[in-house]
Amino acid sequence: MSYILETVDLTKRFGGLVAVDHVNIRVERNKLTLLIGPNGAGKTTLVNLCTGVKKPDDGRVYYNPSGREKIDITGWPSHMVYKAGFVRSFQIPQPFLALTVLENVLAAMSGSGEDPLSPVTRWKWIREEEERVERAYRILKLVGLDKVWNFEAFRLGAGQLKMLEVARALAANAKLIALDEPIGGTDPKYSHDIFSKLRDLLTKTDVTFLVIEHRIDIALPYADYVYVMDRGKVIAEGSPNEVVNNPRVIEVYIGE
Ligand SMILES: Nc1ncnc2c1ncn2[C@@H]1O[C@H](COP(=O)(O)OP(=O)(O)OP(=O)(O)O)[C@@H](O)[C@H]1O
Ligand SMILES: [Mg+2]
Repeated sequence: MSYILETVDLTKRFGGLVAVDHVNIRVERNKLTLLIGPNGAGKTTLVNLCTGVKKPDDGRVYYNPSGREKIDITGWPSHMVYKAGFVRSFQIPQPFLALTVLENVLAAMSGSGEDPLSPVTRWKWIREEEERVERAYRILKLVGLDKVWNFEAFRLGAGQLKMLEVARALAANAKLIALDEPIGGTDPKYSHDIFSKLRDLLTKTDVTFLVIEHRIDIALPYADYVYVMDRGKVIAEGSPNEVVNNPRVIEVYIGE
């Protein structure tokens, strides 16, 4: 099987604390992999190490966007990881709240770089702009925001803003999207909405999700595979069913 992301013995120390301790995870392409664990388990740090936000002390990160070639991205700066299609939600600049939903998606696409006022490139530019708008609209449809395409972003609810983040990642050609607590601050109904939409995207596109989540009761049923971290280590992994019945996982969550 080819995995889109693999870590090998990934390790990060903060002084005497080993925040991420020889962690090995594998993220399957076009699936939703969930990373759970109590506060301070090392989830965010692990994703930071993978996306170049922080540098690991030890271990490797392999990324394979095409399925043909494993690239060693260990220690790459975050903008290079982003350009390679591995997008972490907060890496995308925050939505411009005064711009419309559609304009926000357009802003996340890379431009042609040509001067639209030059007579030679003018017509080409207009055609490219039309194609960009069409593509942005298709993305909005995929994430369920097409009906609100002309709303300013400040009018969106928390759940819709999360989907706007996903839309902007798709606009930036993301192959692997890491979401840190996507349902934080939303009520349970919206939380289920968000996860259903992520599942829907998996069937309609070839994108892959790596989702960090604290609220396992809501997130588990939507996952294909789950890693459970505690104190820097992976303490369990498997299908949602396997991990909820794992005594170590139960102990960690009840002991919180
Ligand atoms: N920059 C830093 N300097 C020092 N310690 C840090 C730093 N970042 C994280 N830590 C520590 O590393 C450990 C793991 O933190 P991390 O934020 O990765 O956990 P988490 O699983 O994401 O927790 P949460 O569910 O609260 O978001 C914690 O003990 C935290 O205090
Ligand atoms: Mg965290």
